[in-house]
Amino acid sequence: MKSLKIGVCGVGNVGGAVLDNITNAPDIVRDNGGVNIEVSQVGARKGKSVVPFDLDVTTNLMDIAANSDIDVLVELIGGCDLAKDLVEESIRKGKNVVTANKALISTHGDELFQLAKDHGVQIGFEASVAGGTPVIKALREGLVANKVNWFAGILNGTTNYILSKMSDDNSSFEDALKEAQDLGLAESDPTMDVDGTDAAQKASILSALAFNTPFDFRSVSYEGIESVSSDDILYAEELGYSIKHIAYGSIEGDEVHVSAYPTFVSNDQLLSQVGQQMNALEISCDGIGSTVYYGPGAGPKPTASAVIADLVDIANGGWPETGSAGKKNKLLKEGKQEFSRYYNLEVKNEAGAIAKVSALFAASDISIEALIQKESKQTNQEQSHVPVIIITGPLSDLNALQMLENLGSVEEITNSVKQFRIHNAL
Ligand code: HSE
Repeated sequence: MKSLKIGVCGVGNVGGAVLDNITNAPDIVRDNGGVNIEVSQVGARKGKSVVPFDLDVTTNLMDIAANSDIDVLVELIGGCDLAKDLVEESIRKGKNVVTANKALISTHGDELFQLAKDHGVQIGFEASVAGGTPVIKALREGLVANKVNWFAGILNGTTNYILSKMSDDNSSFEDALKEAQDLGLAESDPTMDVDGTDAAQKASILSALAFNTPFDFRSVSYEGIESVSSDDILYAEELGYSIKHIAYGSIEGDEVHVSAYPTFVSNDQLLSQVGQQMNALEISCDGIGSTVYYGPGAGPKPTASAVIADLVDIANGGWPETGSAGKKNKLLKEGKQEFSRYYNLEVKNEAGAIAKVSALFAASDISIEALIQKESKQTNQEQSHVPVIIITGPLSDLNALQMLENLGSVEEITNSVKQFRIHNAL
């Protein structure tokens, strides 16, 4: 039986679950993976008191990178500062690395993989995208015979949990976020989940594998779910949609566009059924068409499952090098893909207001597919403005932004207009 000595840096939710699995259920990994994993050292900045196992603990995490007894450093501290130093030093010392750190991979992936190549070691990062759902393995192994054309998916468990709770239980945003944090789904700073950064980082990692682009989440266009209100969720339901945070990636020639936005998904689409903290990813390829991956994308056990899968792969020889190094495609912020749109506006309750708004859409050659304006129920006093919901035909992000700007200059519109994409079955 092969054996692997590991050093685990970070004993938060995920680190704790990795140690728990290896310590309490080693037989499963031995039986299924043919590997005996031994934890040689644990790095915990708060010391031995936070490690509920009888293991060698150091408060200086760089000790693990320097420990010549260790084959693989498991980086679970997150962020790009100490984590980057740890990973680089481990690689220079000839160690393989396994990480769940999407911020690190999506920001410094290119230089880290080059460094690893130079030193003949490997970096496993299955846990960085979709937690326990093996989408990285699918892209670099299972689908290796196919050209990927596009992917679409729900990549952040926390925001999916929040949107599901707001929709299913009428929870407030704050209560749902607190529950997601209590379940260990959210990042230590949940801003990264809520503002879309986490999903953008994951989407850029998928893009690097699917389309051979640089690891660069800053070239992803994205927004979070902060602007989604309970009213939007109610309107979505009324119109036969759910609101999901959806990441897209597509390639045309050597140009790749990756984006992640709150998106209306028709209830007859598969992605609308992905609730709670679940992730889902559809990958469409030339050869075989679409394949879909669904499963837990956040939380200690799913993430630990992906970390351990990488450890087993490393013990069994790791992953083959790709032949495309140095021939990267371009990752561009501006995409040509068109989406139908949802607009949420408030207009003055006066004659001609709706006519003016619809004329503006007509002038931009945008077709209105549905429009909701509810009768005012106030009896004692005339309502000064009324909400109006408009669903349009398809338009690009650039044209959608232009339309928002145009609507902003209409005197009869009294709110700051909101716009969301509507998922197209690509
Ligand atoms: N905070 C992340 C999420 C954890 O909610 O998806 C997994 O990366």
